[in-house]
Amino acid sequence: MPKLFSPLNLNQISLKNRIVMSPMCQYSSDDGFANDWHFVHYSSRAVGGVSAIIQEATAISPKGRISYKDLGLWKDEHMHNLNKIVDFLHKQNCLAGIQLSHAGRKASTPVPWNPKENLKLNNNYWESVAPSPIPFNSDSDIPKELTIQEINKIIQEFKEASHRADKIGYDIVEIHAAHGYLIHQFLSPLSNKRTDDYGGNFNNRIRFLLEIISEVKNVLSKKVSLWVRISATDWIEEGWSNEDSIQLSILLKNMGVDVIDVSTGGLVNAKIPVQPNYQVPYAKNIKKETGIITGAVGLITNAIQAEEILENNEADFILLGRELLRNPYFPMEAASILGINPLIPPPYERAKIVF
Ligand code: FNR
Repeated sequence: MPKLFSPLNLNQISLKNRIVMSPMCQYSSDDGFANDWHFVHYSSRAVGGVSAIIQEATAISPKGRISYKDLGLWKDEHMHNLNKIVDFLHKQNCLAGIQLSHAGRKASTPVPWNPKENLKLNNNYWESVAPSPIPFNSDSDIPKELTIQEINKIIQEFKEASHRADKIGYDIVEIHAAHGYLIHQFLSPLSNKRTDDYGGNFNNRIRFLLEIISEVKNVLSKKVSLWVRISATDWIEEGWSNEDSIQLSILLKNMGVDVIDVSTGGLVNAKIPVQPNYQVPYAKNIKKETGIITGAVGLITNAIQAEEILENNEADFILLGRELLRNPYFPMEAASILGINPLIPPPYERAKIVF
């Protein structure tokens, strides 16, 4: 059996194979609500055979959205439409995950396909917040520095959204601590210049994340697996480093986090050597140094490449992003390429290639 199609048992859940859909914002919601687009988008990948889907960055508060079109889970009313998606995924034997997020200083942006939209004119603008009043780049506004009281409120919002996710029936809650969004802004010395308990040394900069994890853990039932996505490096000498990521992963593991989903970058403009597998060494390192289950992501686009990463013990599973946008049926094709019978839903049985 190829490793890509062998099950992976975590504490609470079992992945039927090692292909997981990476979270990808759809910028297609109004007031945070999921709609038919989300239902079709996620259901298609479940039909295609991934073992789990990590739903796109889902905002824990309106201000935590990247854009006004982001998905959200800051109120109970959001739960119904998400529940429909989760139920369908479960019927396809696909685990349902949700990535909970706050965009911090990267909030309040136009959607990517309409970058020139005048947000203020259209009432789609709000003031962003961050650990320190340092803008993301020269085009961004200066974010408001969070007070301790506001930090505590955001921690509570992560907790409340996690509680809702649990009630909806998600199998996985992933906390988004990567890509330069709010939690990453606290982690990195490049964006966190605070002088209180939440800034300065490593222990202070990771405090915000650890407090979120501790609160989220408190509300998640035992059957839900807790994952954290990190950027394992800022790709800048003075920034968040590989070594920081290892130290953080040890602490997260001890707190009961099941998986580190290992990405990189996004905090500042940096030169990134983008090429196939470019982030895999970080997943490998964290796995080797901490023993925690890791997922590798980033320019992994074919079955043999994915199988090799697993065979080389560089990660425990593979997250696919853009390849699944191009091809929802990647897992079926990958099975054929690796020489095993793909699991095809009965209504699609006749699509099987016959040699
Ligand atoms: C992303 N990515 C992303 N990451 C994340 O943690 N949360 C998110 O909501 C999003 N949103 C998003 C939208 C779109 C359209 C793309 C293409 C990407 C990053 C994504 O999960 C993945 O890490 C990268 O795309 C690299 O993997 P691939 O695409 O090379 O397989």
